[in-house]
Order: sequence, then C-alpha cells, then structure tokens
Amino acid sequence: MSSASKTHARWSSHWTFLMAATGAAVGLGNIWKFPYITGENGGGAFVLVYLACIAIVGIPLLMSEILMGRQGRSNPINSMLSLARASDASRLWAGIGILGTLAGLVIICFYSVVAGWVMDYIIETAKGTFAGISAEEAASYFESSLLADKKLQLSWHTAFTLLTVAVVAAGVTKGLGNSVRIMMPLLFILLVLLLAYSITQGDFARGFSFLFSPDFSKLTGKSVLVAMGHSFFTLSIGMGAMMAYGSYMPEDSSITRMTLAVVFFDTLIALMAGLAIFPLVFANGIEPGAGPGLMFKSLPIAFGHMPGGTFFGTLFFILVGIAAWTSSISMIEPAVAWIDENFRITRATASAIIGFIVWWGGFACIYYEGVFGILDNLGSNIMLPLGGLLMALFVGWSMKRKLIKNQLGDLGYYPFNAWYAVLRVFTPIGIILVFLYGLGLF
Ligand code: PHE
Repeated sequence: MSSASKTHARWSSHWTFLMAATGAAVGLGNIWKFPYITGENGGGAFVLVYLACIAIVGIPLLMSEILMGRQGRSNPINSMLSLARASDASRLWAGIGILGTLAGLVIICFYSVVAGWVMDYIIETAKGTFAGISAEEAASYFESSLLADKKLQLSWHTAFTLLTVAVVAAGVTKGLGNSVRIMMPLLFILLVLLLAYSITQGDFARGFSFLFSPDFSKLTGKSVLVAMGHSFFTLSIGMGAMMAYGSYMPEDSSITRMTLAVVFFDTLIALMAGLAIFPLVFANGIEPGAGPGLMFKSLPIAFGHMPGGTFFGTLFFILVGIAAWTSSISMIEPAVAWIDENFRITRATASAIIGFIVWWGGFACIYYEGVFGILDNLGSNIMLPLGGLLMALFVGWSMKRKLIKNQLGDLGYYPFNAWYAVLRVFTPIGIILVFLYGLGLF
C-alpha cells in the first residue's frame, strides 16, 4: 500500500474507540439541531420516525462504514483503494473516500462558525449578559451583537479552528484518544446536571409529553425525510470519519456491539438534550418550532429568568462546545490522515494545512452572504447521502463477502443475513428518497 512507510495508529482500547466514535456522533446535531427539528415537526411522532430511520439506515450503514475502515486499515481514500483491489472491483470506488474526505472539509467550515457562536455564548452567559433578558433583547443579541459583528465571529471561528487543529495535530492516541476520554464523560455529567435542573425548574411534564406522545396528524412526508436526513448527520455517516476511526480500531472489538453502543449514546444524548431543552422552552412561553434560532435566541431567555440560570446556562453552552469540538476533530481527521500517510510531511504540518483551508472556508461563510447555506446544503443534503448510498452499494453489492465476514465474525447466521439484506435493499432506497428530497426534486 502507498501508505506503508508510516504505521497506522491504533486506539489504546475498545473504550477509547467508543468514546471517539461517540464524540464524533454527538455534536451540534444532537443538542442544537435535533430539538429544533423535533419542535418544527410536531414532537413525538417525529421522534418515532427518527428512531425508525436510525434503525433501518443508521445502524446498517454505521456498521458498514466502520468495517470498511478496519478492513482497509488506512485513511478513507487509501482504504477504499485497497478494499476495491481486494474485492476485484473498480478503483473508482476510491471516490467514496475522496467524496467523504471533502464532505468533512465542507461541513466543518460552517460547523466551526456555529461552534464559534457557542463559544461566544459561553462567555456572554458567564458574564451575566442574559440575566433577566427579554425575548426581543435575546433575538437582538444574536442578530445584532453577534451575527452583525463579523470580526467577532471570525475571532471565535479562528479560536475554534485552532482548538480542533491542535487536537488532530497531536495525533490519534495522544490527541484524539486522550481528549475524548476526558471530554465525553464530562459532557455526559454536564447533561445529567442540566436535565436535573430542567426537571426541577422547567415544565417537565409538558416537555416530556411533547417528546414522547406521538400525534401522527402532525407528521408530513417532509418530516419523514427530515428525520432520515438527520439520522445521517447525527451519526456522522457518509463522510469517512467513522471509516477513519474504524481503521484505528483494535482487531478484537466487536463492530456490531460498538455500533449499537455509539447509536445508543447518540440517541440517548439527543433525547436527553430534548428533555433538558423543552421543559425550559415551555416554562418560558417560547415557541418549540422556533427553528435554528431555538438554542441561541430562546435558551438565554430561559436561563436568564431562572434561579442559577447564569451558572447552568454557562454549563450548557460549555457542553455544546465540547460536543461540537469532538465532532469537528472527526471531520478533519480523514484529510489529515490522508496527507500524513501519503506525503513526506508531519501530521502537525498536515493539520496546519487543513486548518488553513478550514479557516478560509469559515471566513467565506462569515463574510459572503449565502456561502454558509450553500456549504450546509452541499455537505449535509448532497455529499453525506451520496457517500452513504455509495457505501451501502459498495459493501452490499461489490465488496467480497469474505472480507465483510472477516470483520463481522461475531454475528450469527440470521443476524448477519438480516443486516446484509437491509443494507442491500432498504438502506439504498431510503437514502435515494432523502437524496432526491435534498436536491429539491420533490
Ligand atoms: N454527527 C455530528 C453532529 O451530530 C455532525 C457530523 C456530521 C460530524 C458529519 C461528523 C461528520 O453534530
């Protein structure tokens, strides 16, 4: 293999892999996006559909992506090349690796801008800016003080990019592995604290029934597709991040068990975030369908009016920041690993090069109208579903069964065949629907 001159890293343990993959999955998607799309799509029924999508598309694909990585044992591009070769398939399948690596770079450009807003909110909440704030003042802070101040946004984006690059530059075991082992449990503890706060201070009964009492009359065809699209985004499927993480996975970890654990934590954290947010939203007369601004415009009001709100609000935004951070490192890891393993430069230099590109991408999002939306749409609605579709087709129809079995050795006859059938048929059909929807074709 072309990457043979440098040895490919390994996570120090099963647990580290689990924390890294969970860290990649749990991000702004869980804490910021899931609550607001649930709010926009009527609550409980949407949550049920989302859970079904996770089961039909999410689990089979996440298993596939991780197994491709562990069998390929290299960065996503080189892994795809060697998997295609070993399966006597076309080298063009390497396109999956290229597309995925680029998708990560496209997504991180706007993602790190949003993460920058989160950093700003950490500081402002801690300073007490939102204490006693009115709805108008909260909206005006977000739009006039933050969004209108491009230099401020750029500074936060720069800070966040540096944080991300620093971890990736430090390498797989020292950087990624060590940081996720600390950050993920911390994130979980913070979320439990917030949940306790929301149960005692918010309108918990109403929040709970909003999330868990399905009212199917509120469900539209569009909601189903939004749910499916989100199952991709939230599990980080289709861009090679999970393939890269799988390539560092110990030989004897069970891919099935690890996948189920990642999906379990990702879903648990999304639901916990919903349970922490909606009771606060309802207790303060805020509209649950407020859209993307739900977190930035509404939660400061909630926190601003509640006892201990400054402390818990700050904690909340720190939590969102950590979640965004551990996701961001997974977005640039494929590109950094590819450069590191194919060129005679150090990982630190490779990280700096990628950081430089990401910085300019974020700069474009901040300074040029429309770039943010274009990158979001291109990355989330086009590149991820396309990557996921190609992965399902490759593993389902082109990859040698022997290689697949090599990775899923612990799966019994029936579970294996059930997984394989879903992956070959239902997953592609599901993705094609999301994809067409993303392109605006229906
Ligand atoms: N899964 C992450 C989230 O929920 C986002 C992400 C998408 C991360 C794609 C990596 C790749 O925020």
